[in-house]
Amino acid sequence: MLSQEEMKRMAAEKAVELVPENEYIGIGTGSTVNLFVEALGKSGKKIKGAVATSKRTSELMAKCGIPEVQLSEVSKLAIYVDGADEINHTLQMIKGGGAALLAEKIVASASEQFVCIADESKYVSRLGKFPLPVEVIPLSRSLVSRRLVALGGNPELRLDCTTASGHQIVDVHNLDLSKPLTMEEELNKIPGVVENGLFARHPADVLVLGTQKGVEVLKIR
Ligand code: A5P
Repeated sequence: MLSQEEMKRMAAEKAVELVPENEYIGIGTGSTVNLFVEALGKSGKKIKGAVATSKRTSELMAKCGIPEVQLSEVSKLAIYVDGADEINHTLQMIKGGGAALLAEKIVASASEQFVCIADESKYVSRLGKFPLPVEVIPLSRSLVSRRLVALGGNPELRLDCTTASGHQIVDVHNLDLSKPLTMEEELNKIPGVVENGLFARHPADVLVLGTQKGVEVLKIR
């Protein structure tokens, strides 16, 4: 029986094969991404540079010899590699468990292809067991929380967490995410919401999934 760590590592190592040489890429945040960064460093694959979505990723990239570039310095990223907290069968995701969702959504949207790397526990038929992270401006936290309750959710402030942009995270339990695209857009209309962790408008293009039976590469289009 493979451990979750081993399945993550299988997905991370497989994703390195999908990285094109001599291009700029984007790199997400999280424990699966950390394994990807280490594997990319060891592979000796030559990329022009990578945009990091967090200080944690940036520091690990430096240790692994991966050159960093800022998003403002490049016009195009060939691929974006990141994990997910949940991913459904149309490759829509919940992200933000690591509080880096704002940078992740920005960098993902600047990339031509989103490659999600995950172990099989993340692959679900319906999104929403994992509480949905919503990044809010501190001033608006109570207002946003009341609106989230009106939408049927149970908001919970993430304690001791300030995002890289100085915002707070509200994790929302029990929201009906049966229409992820509609909910992603509705949440972002609430004044004070900076971004939310639903990635439905721009789902992943490819899912590299580490499973008990080996690595699967799934695409929907
Ligand atoms: C970071 O903010 C998240 O979006 C991560 O991509 C997500 O939490 C996956 O993390 P793991 O790879 O650690 O499960």
